[in-house]
Amino acid sequence: MKIPSRTEAEGMLNEAEGMNPGPWVDHVRYAARAAETIARELGDMDAENAYILALLHDIGRRTGRSKFRHMIDGYRYLEGLGYPDAARVCITHGFPIKDIDTVLHEKDVPDADWEFARKFLASVEYDDYDSLVQLADIVSMPHGYVLIDKRFVDVALRYGTTAHTAERWRAFFAVRDSFERRLGKSVYTLLPGVVENTFGFTE
Ligand SMILES: [Fe+2]
Repeated sequence: MKIPSRTEAEGMLNEAEGMNPGPWVDHVRYAARAAETIARELGDMDAENAYILALLHDIGRRTGRSKFRHMIDGYRYLEGLGYPDAARVCITHGFPIKDIDTVLHEKDVPDADWEFARKFLASVEYDDYDSLVQLADIVSMPHGYVLIDKRFVDVALRYGTTAHTAERWRAFFAVRDSFERRLGKSVYTLLPGVVENTFGFTE
């Protein structure tokens, strides 16, 4: 797998945080630990690679505040460094359905980038790591792990919903279900703080 080492990936994240500080950095740190923990529990995935891929999935946010653009920016950044297997999750993590038209975010890129992503998604075959980063992403908020359903509502309140929202939710639940079948237990049993983060009250 052509991806950076853990140390190099941590360095990239620290640099990106300096360029565009924000809650996204804590979010990816939680996502990385979730991916590592789930991979280790499964036993047939590389936990180190899972950690690194999840840590870098939003690295495109290094270029500043953006919507869909962070996926393209992350892809180009990692591809340019010679890490195509890390680059791909910058796009695949947001698409449990491999169709650009199911996109969550606004189109804040030129047509050429949009069409590039359309073709990329149509041609890529998802592997276990693409799916694991999707799962790690949606259980992780900047303050810790939460019930996926809670995160969906959080995202819907921030960005609004589209005609594809319910379809995307079903696809994400299918990803969770497939990992839970392999684990033989709820993914939440592996993630500390879910009850507090999901059901805690806010003053
Ligand atoms: Fe993310």
